[in-house]
Amino acid sequence: MATLAELSDLIDSREARIGVIGLGYVGLPLAVELGAEGFRVTGFDVDKSKIRAIKEGRSYIGDVESKEVVDLLEMERLDATDDFTKLADMDVINICVPTPLRKTRDPDVSFIASAVAEIREHLREGQLIILGSTTYPGTTHEFVIPMLEDKGLVIGKDFSLAFAPERIDPANAQFKVKNVPKVVGGETSLCTTLACKVFDTIFEKTVPVSSTQSAEMVKLLENTFRAINIGLANEIALMCQKLELDVWEVIDAAATKPYGFMKFTPGPGLGGHCIPVDPAYLSWKMKSLNFPARFIELATEVNSGMPDHVVDRIAELLNEDRLAVNGAQILILGVAYKSNVERR
Ligand SMILES: NC(=O)c1ccc[n+]([C@@H]2O[C@H](COP(=O)([O-])OP(=O)(O)OC[C@H]3O[C@@H](n4cnc5c(N)ncnc54)[C@H](O)[C@@H]3O)[C@@H](O)[C@H]2O)c1
Repeated sequence: MATLAELSDLIDSREARIGVIGLGYVGLPLAVELGAEGFRVTGFDVDKSKIRAIKEGRSYIGDVESKEVVDLLEMERLDATDDFTKLADMDVINICVPTPLRKTRDPDVSFIASAVAEIREHLREGQLIILGSTTYPGTTHEFVIPMLEDKGLVIGKDFSLAFAPERIDPANAQFKVKNVPKVVGGETSLCTTLACKVFDTIFEKTVPVSSTQSAEMVKLLENTFRAINIGLANEIALMCQKLELDVWEVIDAAATKPYGFMKFTPGPGLGGHCIPVDPAYLSWKMKSLNFPARFIELATEVNSGMPDHVVDRIAELLNEDRLAVNGAQILILGVAYKSNVERR
């Protein structure tokens, strides 16, 4: 088995065995890109139907063609399994499991915990572990490390650990996996270097940052930025209604400014499964430090009020025509969070 010094050579020669835990919207495209680059990739998932689909050459993710899966299977560069003992054969392990919220809107890192527990069972010298699931700053350092350290192996000496957030935008025709820069933060500088080396093979640009916490925060800044600006657009829509102005005319005209303005639009809901969830990871973490994340709380309040607002508007508009909501047939066009993606 490779030591950390040898791992660098294995990456260069594409002999490094790469594991991807969680073959969903993030994990499958990553596994396919790494396979296409020449690595032998094994996907690990607890969902047997996904493993069966991959083995049969069927993609269930819009951004991955079944043909890509078939080609990689034929070249023996892609495999899928629920046998986690095979993690021991992997030189690099990417974790791409879900990070939802609990009913209380607290972070649910139980999927990360179970993936890391499997890794711990099979952890060996020379491995590089990369967490890619979106999570609060400190998860890698405070939550993952203690789980792995009890094996007696030393980070940065015996094995490496990094966080590299995923920025994939499903159904985006312009920006795919490769041409979106990859942010990478390691627990040590060697961890960062090795993780960048892996991602340099498939991404046009990698962006190293000084720590896993910084890399975790980068992702939350990006998604919090969107959630807050959508909240502003929603509040502007409410203001325009009071002022009897057409919000679309106002936003479209503002968007003609060539600098200093970025267009966000109001709407009844907030999606996909990142924007409504990820800012809550940050506000939860800040709460533990006795720091109220006021912008996040306000945007959440405005955004989560929009479905009620839409229902009120429907009632008002029906009322203007002397119609009642009760008994009205209402057609809703577009229940996904954006065009050309399935409902999640
Ligand atoms: N979908 C996106 O557009 C997107 C974009 C950026 C970041 N992210 C983040 O990436 C992470 C993964 O998201 P996703 O959309 O790919 O989720 P997903 O639900 O599509 O896929 C996750 C996969 O992990 C599997 N899984 C769950 N627990 C497991 C375990 N213990 N071991 C092995 N497999 C396990 C599930 O069966 C599923 O196939 C999340 O943190 C998410 O916030 C998602």
